Amino acid sequence: MSLNNNLKKILIIDFGSQFTQLIARRIRELGVFSEIISHKKTNNLKIFKDVKGIVLSGGPLNVYQNHKIKFNKKIIELDIPILGICFGHQIISKIMGGKVKQSKFREFGLAKVKKKNNSLLVKNFFSKNNVNNVWMSHADQVSRLPKGFKIIASSKNSNLTIIENNKKKLYGVQFHPEVTHTDKGKILLKNFLFLICKAKRNWSSKQQKFKLIKSVRKQVGNVKVICALSGGVDSSVVARLINSAIGKKLTCIFVNTGLLRKNEENQVVNTFKKKLKMNLIYVDASNEFLNKLKNVSDPEKKRKIIGKLFIKIFEKYSRKIKKVKFLAQGTLYPDLIESKSVTGSQTSKIKSHHNVGGLPKKMKLKLVEPLKYLFKDEVRKLGLELKLSKEIISRHPFPGPGLAIRIPGIITKEKINILKEADCYFINHLRKYNLYHKIWQAYAALLPVKTVGVMGDNRTYEHICLLRAITSEDGMTADFFNFNKKFLQSISNKIINNIKGINRVVYDVTSKPPSTIELE
Ligand code: XMP
Repeated sequence: MSLNNNLKKILIIDFGSQFTQLIARRIRELGVFSEIISHKKTNNLKIFKDVKGIVLSGGPLNVYQNHKIKFNKKIIELDIPILGICFGHQIISKIMGGKVKQSKFREFGLAKVKKKNNSLLVKNFFSKNNVNNVWMSHADQVSRLPKGFKIIASSKNSNLTIIENNKKKLYGVQFHPEVTHTDKGKILLKNFLFLICKAKRNWSSKQQKFKLIKSVRKQVGNVKVICALSGGVDSSVVARLINSAIGKKLTCIFVNTGLLRKNEENQVVNTFKKKLKMNLIYVDASNEFLNKLKNVSDPEKKRKIIGKLFIKIFEKYSRKIKKVKFLAQGTLYPDLIESKSVTGSQTSKIKSHHNVGGLPKKMKLKLVEPLKYLFKDEVRKLGLELKLSKEIISRHPFPGPGLAIRIPGIITKEKINILKEADCYFINHLRKYNLYHKIWQAYAALLPVKTVGVMGDNRTYEHICLLRAITSEDGMTADFFNFNKKFLQSISNKIINNIKGINRVVYDVTSKPPSTIELE
């Protein structure tokens, strides 16, 4: 299934920059569809058929590492405007006859650029005194201007910070306009899209909604679809979208593992079954999960047990629905982008994530993945367009294995109940102080140690509750949220005064890396 049939787009050729996805998101925020492709996949020039403009990303390579760069240089002759960013700027320069060398000073962070000439690319980009703050991250620089190009702006360290060949519509910038630290970076991208590429606005959640509903109908026709609903943002939006397309031909299966947040099962049933009148099978498997997890303390074992049992239960209930041909999944665009292999490095397995990805092989179902061209923020906007409540759409992420990985050590029903209460107090407190939406993810965990405390005149010996709240862009890296003392004090009091079983509250101040977001 594809959303991008005949959609004019901006193609981003990825050289492995950590900001490639950000470039795509910025362009889409400006209302133009953009896709990412690895530089190694540029051989077939047919893929450039609907391309209005090309962006070459940054990356960790050096332009002289010919054996690693599998980029089809013929792209430059396609008569499609090209903007090179950082490494992209260097590679255009080299191909066009310029020179690239190691900079005397590596530039990381803010730098000032000064305008030297006018260009459509920098319309309204510079302040009145012709300077702008930009964000740099490079060790090499263009040292000789290629023939046919002119200098548009310079920085202290690099004379050729912005260059252009107006006739061939080739542009290069040494800095990163896609990051928010570059002032008016979005204006530069906007100029490239609308003044240079003459792109049209073709990307909004309303347009996506209609297109996606149409293509789901086309893909599944008259047969039935099943979907594992977790109550999280992605599966909720997928379910709602498919329901809007094919109504009752979709059946959702919601498995209550007993490891969900407080009242979550009621919220899901209320929203999807009672309010939206969707076909929903509710399975309360909490006892089964608890039994299987009895005396298990190894994190990987816990994850595997939960994943396996989930699939078993899902299969059992889906077999009861006749004539099912499709399984709906909330795969997102970042899951599909092959951008991390440029340097050949592979991240080692840190945790085995549990989702329903393993299902179709056994069940011989075809996949419907209507969100596979969308970023998370676009999924949220689409959800609102589909009239899902703000509460569902803006919820913090929640892991498949749920509270099991927030109770290090052995899991008991008593511990789960204590944790559900603590987590609920914490989240409500964040909402009360208007902090919930400033935080990417927050939760409470129950540590497997008891410590001594004193309440009234009595000695207590109870659990430690750990609070974690982080800021992040995508969950790959994270920083702890900086609460003030008053907030920490009041949530600590609230939890200890209201929940029997906890007599100490600690706040996790590690970032990711070196820690991970979840405890297990
Ligand atoms: P970590 O702990 O790896 O978490 O830093 C990164 C993000 O992933 C979530 N997470 C999961 N999500 N199934 C999921 O669907 C899982 O098994 C899983 N484990 C962690 C975590 O909550 C955080 O948002």
